[in-house]
Amino acid sequence: MSQATDLYCVMGNPVAHSRSPAIHARFAELTGEHLVYERRLVALDGFAEGVHDFAAQGGRGCNVTVPFKTEAPLLATHCSERVQLAGAANTLAFRPDGSIHCDNTDGLGLVADITRNAGVALQGASVLLVGAGGAAAGVLGPLLQAGARHITIANRTLAKAQALVQSHQALAKELGAQLAASTLAAVSGDFDVVINATASSLAGDAVPVAASVLRPGSLAYDMMYGPAAQGFLDWAAAQGAVPRDGLGMLVEQAAEAFAFWRGVRPPSAQVLAELQAQLALQPH
Ligand code: ATR
Repeated sequence: MSQATDLYCVMGNPVAHSRSPAIHARFAELTGEHLVYERRLVALDGFAEGVHDFAAQGGRGCNVTVPFKTEAPLLATHCSERVQLAGAANTLAFRPDGSIHCDNTDGLGLVADITRNAGVALQGASVLLVGAGGAAAGVLGPLLQAGARHITIANRTLAKAQALVQSHQALAKELGAQLAASTLAAVSGDFDVVINATASSLAGDAVPVAASVLRPGSLAYDMMYGPAAQGFLDWAAAQGAVPRDGLGMLVEQAAEAFAFWRGVRPPSAQVLAELQAQLALQPH
């Protein structure tokens, strides 16, 4: 007997580069879930229309990528606590009663990749989060919830780091963690984990913090992957740190979205290993 196929997509502008369709297709294959996952390019001023059209066409849910993550919660009827804290969502689910639920799985993906795939404990860790834009905002709450003890947010524009500290202060207090804001130049000391959440690697600029933030064995994580992350990874390796790119975060945030929609957890470590092997074969 044939089963109905459910429709999902990733919406963004640009969206052609997205690996999400391939990742979700593989998850579906490995879990036996029946779904189709497309790419949808929507006009910069057409996100709300794109979402409503997709839902009207029978879409069951979508991922949201640049530049719509902060607009996404405005369309939802129910936002998770993570979305409220981050002010951004990357996953929407369209329920049969017409309600739209949203979540932000980016931070969960980062935490899962660091703790499960890289095997690095966040419980009690000191963390330097470089950047205070949307990418940093999306992961700060989950880093706190994973048990990071001290988190310093360093950003070119200090006021944005301070705003993130303020919006997460109550959660940090509740968890017994400490948050600090800093300029890039003023960061001092070294950290167990350094996370690059700036767009600086995309622009090909130098790593914006002093190498002394790393010590041998620190985890140095770039939320980008591929050529965009290479400068940061090389810099980290030269300090004796353990470099890691954001491919695992990409797969794990997709796995969280898949579980949010389908109630089934896909074998994300297997899919990450497959993707790493595929990328290693591609010419740079
Ligand atoms: P995203 O959603 O990827 O986080 P964003 O919200 O535009 O994008 O944030 C970009 C982040 O990269 C910010 O922290 C930005 O610093 P500012 O807040 O000072 O703008 C940081 N960034 C971008 N280019 C940078 C550069 N050349 N050097 C240092 N930081 C940079």
